[in-house]
Amino acid sequence: MNIDIYNSYDNMCKKVVEDIRYAINFNMFSEYFTLGLATGSTPLSIYKYIRDENWEANKVTTFNLDEYSDLPYNHPQSYEHFMEENLFMYKQFRYSYFPENERYDDLIKNKGGIDIQILGIGTNGHIAFNEPGSSRDSLTRKVELTENTRKDNSRFFDSIDDVPTHAWTMGIESIMRAKQIYLLASGKHKKEILEKACHGEITSDVPASFLQEHNNVEVLYCD
Ligand code: GLP
Repeated sequence: MNIDIYNSYDNMCKKVVEDIRYAINFNMFSEYFTLGLATGSTPLSIYKYIRDENWEANKVTTFNLDEYSDLPYNHPQSYEHFMEENLFMYKQFRYSYFPENERYDDLIKNKGGIDIQILGIGTNGHIAFNEPGSSRDSLTRKVELTENTRKDNSRFFDSIDDVPTHAWTMGIESIMRAKQIYLLASGKHKKEILEKACHGEITSDVPASFLQEHNNVEVLYCD
C-alpha cells in the first residue's frame, strides 16, 4: 500500500470529501450510497467539509465502525453523540447505524454493502476497535479494549477509569468487505505504525496490516 503524503491535514481531508462527492454524483456504486464512518480526531475535518456538500444526504446511508458498550446514548463520549455533534445535526442521512449486536454485518449486506469506508488507525495498529490479536475473519462483535487504547482515549474522559472497558466493533472481515477504503493518519506519532501497517508483515499483531490484502485502499498521511 502506497502512503500518499499531504502537506496539510485539511488538504488530506478535502481529498477524501472530493472522492466521496464524485462517487455520489456519478453513481459510481449505486443510487443509494453507503458510507462507512469512523470516530476519533482524524476524520473531524472530513465531517466539517461534508457539512457544506450539496449532494443529497437523504440518498446516503451511514454505518459507523464502532461504539462503546455500556455508555448511554446521550453520554458526551458515546460515538453516536460524537457523530450527532460533528455531522448528523448538520446533515440528514437516509439511515444511520451503529453496531450494537451481531446482526450488523447482515444489515450492511442488506443495504448493499459499504461503498466507501473511512478509517483511522490506533497507535497500536487497531482499526475500529479490532485490537492486536484480532483475526482476519472477525465480524461485528463485542470486544475488550486494551490498556493502550483506553489510555489513548482517556484524553476525552475525566480519567482512564471512566473509559469503557468494552465496545462493539465491526470486524476485520466486515471492514474488508467495503468496496473502497480510505485509511487516514495525522501526526508524527502515527507514522511508525502506519509504515508497519502498509509495508510490514501482514499479521494480527498489527490489525491494519490486513488492509494490504484489499485491492482498493488509499492511505493518506500528514505530519
Ligand atoms: C479510536 C477508534 C478508531 C480510531 C482510533 C484513532 O479508538 N475506535 O476507530 O481510528 O481510535 O483515533 P484518533 O483519530 O483520535 O487518533
